Amino acid sequence: MSTSTLVPQRESAAGAIPFDSYARLPEEECLSRIAAAKAKLGKRVVILGHHYQQDHVFQFADFSGDSLKLSRNAAQSEAEYIVFLGVHFMAEVADILSRPEQISILPDLSAGCSMADMATLPKVNRCWRELAEVLNPDEEVTPVTYINSAADLKAFCGEHGGIVCTSSNAGRILDWSFARRGKVLFFPDQHLGRNTGYRMGIPLERMVLWDPDQPMGGLTAEQIKQAKIILWKGFCSVHQMFTPQQITAWRAKHPNGKVISHPESSFEVCQLSDYVGSTEYIIKTVADSAPGTEWLVGTELNLVNRLANQFKAEGKTVQFMATTVCMCSTMARIDPQHLCWVMENLAAGHVVNRITVPEREAELARVALQRMLDAS
Ligand code: 13P
Ligand code: SF4
Repeated sequence: MSTSTLVPQRESAAGAIPFDSYARLPEEECLSRIAAAKAKLGKRVVILGHHYQQDHVFQFADFSGDSLKLSRNAAQSEAEYIVFLGVHFMAEVADILSRPEQISILPDLSAGCSMADMATLPKVNRCWRELAEVLNPDEEVTPVTYINSAADLKAFCGEHGGIVCTSSNAGRILDWSFARRGKVLFFPDQHLGRNTGYRMGIPLERMVLWDPDQPMGGLTAEQIKQAKIILWKGFCSVHQMFTPQQITAWRAKHPNGKVISHPESSFEVCQLSDYVGSTEYIIKTVADSAPGTEWLVGTELNLVNRLANQFKAEGKTVQFMATTVCMCSTMARIDPQHLCWVMENLAAGHVVNRITVPEREAELARVALQRMLDAS
């Protein structure tokens, strides 16, 4: 069973300090206690923070980045403990890529990713079996999983000649895949797959949507045979909030402004954007722009607010694309109380909320992740 499927919200090692006493701890007190525990642990701990994380915990990150950068940080880290300010699949990647004696920790085990949950191993196995009724998938289809997926799906890709991608290397990974087999099965994010395929020159009609809840994905044998990319019907609930109307309304008021979006956004939004790329790309593009530039940004709110504050002094204005608040609510579960609880336990010699991927699964997932690191 995947370690990403239902897990208890808090898992305490024997002798560990229970979470209950932290639940109502005032934020200010948590912050000073986290700093003290971090200082006590020194180089024994490294804290990795994804760009979508809220500032109150993000400030403790030793390294921040997008999914690709953080997976490299995890692989290169020398620390005994890797504490992930991110979501479950990121802590799994840290466990897979780090040495066996290193320990990966997710401060709140309920910090999952709703998109990752849209593809499961039984459903992908069924898809592979159904594709075998029409073609020979192990010779004709490269399975590509977005890093936003459970470890068992990365293992599936490792086992079937496939690979992992992130939003910053998806184009290169599709090149790698097509150099080996004529078709790609891309899961779980249809939008990253479609946006990347289209940029590579694949017409929309050769990218079909596989609905895992329908027999044969809801497709005919002919549709499958003519497809270059079979896209899994998954999406990010945060990025699907962005719409073409939000862009056109903003452009009417800011005719010289620039629009930049994350490729988890819809095809229509990406087509209307001036730039499309991962969180790391978005930060770099805004940072490199001329003073006075106006930006409309289609990605998670915490990152957009951070950019707005960071570049205000340079006269750049950075505005969030959606008209309503849309944050990654699961990532937000990593709050100061949980971080304080994890850090004080580590400082007292107790590991809580360790993320462990079973060895056989990790071995195969590592194959797919290593292919990605080598190809990007
Ligand atoms: P990146 O970190 O690759 O930009 O992806 C964003 C995301 O949704 C992480 O879950
Ligand atoms: Fe998952 Fe979307 Fe949150 Fe990224 S922003 S972790 S894809 S739910």
